[in-house]
Amino acid sequence: MKRAGDEHPTRVAIVGAGSVGATFAYTLLLSGLAAEIVLVDSNRTRAEGEAMDLGHAVPFGPPAHVWAGDYEDCAGAVVTVVAAGAAQKPGETRLELAGRNAAIIQEVAASVARVNPNGILLVATNPVDLLTYAAWKSSGLPARRVIGSGTVLDTARFRYLLGRHFGVDPRSVHAFVVGEHGDSEVPVWSLANIAGMRLPAFCAAQGLAHDTSELDDIFRRTREAAYAIIERKGATYYAVAAGLVRIVEAILRDQRTVLSVSSLIDGYYGVDDVCLSLPTVVSREGVERVLRPDLDPEEIEGLRRSAAVLKEALAGLEP
Ligand code: 2OP
Repeated sequence: MKRAGDEHPTRVAIVGAGSVGATFAYTLLLSGLAAEIVLVDSNRTRAEGEAMDLGHAVPFGPPAHVWAGDYEDCAGAVVTVVAAGAAQKPGETRLELAGRNAAIIQEVAASVARVNPNGILLVATNPVDLLTYAAWKSSGLPARRVIGSGTVLDTARFRYLLGRHFGVDPRSVHAFVVGEHGDSEVPVWSLANIAGMRLPAFCAAQGLAHDTSELDDIFRRTREAAYAIIERKGATYYAVAAGLVRIVEAILRDQRTVLSVSSLIDGYYGVDDVCLSLPTVVSREGVERVLRPDLDPEEIEGLRRSAAVLKEALAGLEP
C-alpha cells in the first residue's frame, strides 16, 4: 500500500507553532528522526520566526530542513502533529477548552486530510480525546490514522513518580494510566509491575512497605501535575513534546511500541464510539491494534466513568 512519505524525505508537519508545537519541533529536530519539519500557523510571522530560530540550530545537530509553510506543505508528511488552539489557564480544566478548540481542530483536520489523505494525524490539542474524535470525523481518515497524544504524558508522569518512589529507573516501571487525558483518568494498579513483579510482590521482595496511601498520592500528583505546572509557569510543553517525539518515532520507525495513545475504541468493557487511551501498539500504520488487558472491577468502573464523561462532553459539542 502506498503510504504518505514513501517517495519523499521523511517529513513531519506541525500545525500550531505555540509553546507545544514549537517545543515539539525543537525536540524532533534534535532527535534526527525527520529530514523535513514544516511549521504551519494561522500567525505566519510567528511560524517563520520559530522556523528561523530552529534552522539556526541545525549546524549543531542532525541535518534537517525546517520552514514555515501552508497546509499544502503537509502533503507527503508521514505524520502531521496538531497543536493548534488555546491552552488551559490556571485552574481551568481541559474539558473547558472544548468549545474554543473544536472548531479549530475540525478545520485543521479537514484541511490536512485534503492535501494528505495517506498521512497520520497526531492530535495534541486539549481536550485531546474529544478533539481526536472530532479530527477523525472531520478528516474522513481511517480511525487507525487519527491518534491523540492521550495519556502518554500521564503514563510518563506516573512512571517517573513511581520510579522515584521505588528507587528504579522509570523506564523499568511498567504501568499505565488509561481513559481520559484529564480529571477522570484511571491508573491501572492491578497490572503495574517492576521486572514482572506486581507492586505488592516487588515491595515484599525488596523489604519495602506497600503503602497504598503513598501510592494514591503518587496518582493524585500524576493527575494534578498539569494544574501544578500551569499555576507555576503558565503552561506545560517539555514533557508533552518529548512524548510526541516518542509517538512519532514509533510511527516513523515502525516500532510497534505499546503507548497509551488515544484512539477510537470499539467494544472494550462496554466502551464504544469514543476516543480515549488504552495501551496501543503504534506502528507505521498508526494504530496497529488496541490492547485489551484484563482490568480489575474498580478499574473497569473507572474506565466506564471516564468514557461516560467524554461521551457527555462530545454530545455537548455536536450542533
Ligand atoms: C498536560 O497534561 C496541559 O494536557 C497538558 O500537561
